[in-house]
Amino acid sequence: MSSALTDLCHYPIVQAPMAGGASCPVLVAAVGEAGGLGFLAAGYKTADGMYQEIKQVRGLTNRPFGVNLFMPQPDCADPAAVDVYRHQLAGEATWYQTALGDPDSGRDDGYDAKLAILLDDPVPLVTFTFGCPTREVVQALQRVGTRSAVTVTTVDEARAAQHVGADAVCVQGIEAGGHQGTHRDNPEADGSGVGLLSLVGQVREAVQLPIIAAGGIMRGSQIAAVLAAGADLAQLGTAFLVTPESGAPTLHKRAMTDPLFTRTELTRAFSGRPARGLVNRFLREHGPYAPAAYPQIHHMTSPLRKAAAKAGDPQGMALWAGQGHRFARELPAGQLVEVLAAELDAAKAALGQRGAE
Ligand SMILES: Cc1cc2nc3c(=O)[nH]c(=O)nc-3n(C[C@H](O)[C@H](O)[C@H](O)COP(=O)(O)O)c2cc1C
Repeated sequence: MSSALTDLCHYPIVQAPMAGGASCPVLVAAVGEAGGLGFLAAGYKTADGMYQEIKQVRGLTNRPFGVNLFMPQPDCADPAAVDVYRHQLAGEATWYQTALGDPDSGRDDGYDAKLAILLDDPVPLVTFTFGCPTREVVQALQRVGTRSAVTVTTVDEARAAQHVGADAVCVQGIEAGGHQGTHRDNPEADGSGVGLLSLVGQVREAVQLPIIAAGGIMRGSQIAAVLAAGADLAQLGTAFLVTPESGAPTLHKRAMTDPLFTRTELTRAFSGRPARGLVNRFLREHGPYAPAAYPQIHHMTSPLRKAAAKAGDPQGMALWAGQGHRFARELPAGQLVEVLAAELDAAKAALGQRGAE
């Protein structure tokens, strides 16, 4: 087994990459300084935007950090289905007094340009989401001293990551907030996702790679559970989204513990790819009909989401959240890392004690 990535951080605690602004350089640096591993999300950034953020992190800390990339998606959306959804959203456009976005804008998110920068000026770790990079890309990163990990939601995806020579897998359970990192978007598989503890166990037996476990983890005791199941590190998104350093909109942060929002659901309503968010009006009304068309639907709903945020209306925003959202604690990021680490120690001690009884 290759290095377990644990040399990158003092505690086995990873702050998840969160595209859309939450995992900003200040958050990444605060987590790193506290002994965790922070991640920048390059998914919705331009190549230059990504590089600016990398330089900002380096200006704030000398600690290691990671960068997350979205894999380019094959163009297999049905234009007719996208058009039907456009008509369905016409009332939203009227309500929020904005035009819908062009579904075909930004088809190329600059994957190649981002890779070129990361090869030219390497970072310690790069993770890939929505697919598996080629063996050539993994090897090119390894040659410049960068380790790579692939987000996986099934055992087969983990095998694919091992096949291309990735250094680790990020195992994402169905509880996770935000997009499911499924490699091929298959509507027939909707709802067949696997819970994190079960998936970590299955992947542990199937591949010989270090595991970062993600999905619904909010407490140190849950970190202890995934480590016991075979993970090397635990990745938390929702828990860090509410910290003051996070760049998520205040409305999004508040919604996590607002009693108005009682549960989460996987939906294609906002982006055309399954993602878990708090159930709000938009998700309830449009989720059942949204087509499998990423990133077309993401671009189409972008002005609506922005207008809703500007109007202070969380019912029209994509409130990405994991199933554990109610456990969110609004602590400074560094303090959260310390609290999680103390809870992890306490959980390990309690387990040891029970084992000895
Ligand atoms: C607001 C938000 C944005 C996210 N963006 C990304 C992303 O850009 N890349 C990625 O690999 N995962 C992304 N995720 C998923 C996280 O990496 C992680 O799997 C998830 O947050 C773990 O579940 P939790 O939120 O319950 O901790 C995002 C999650 C959230 C909540």
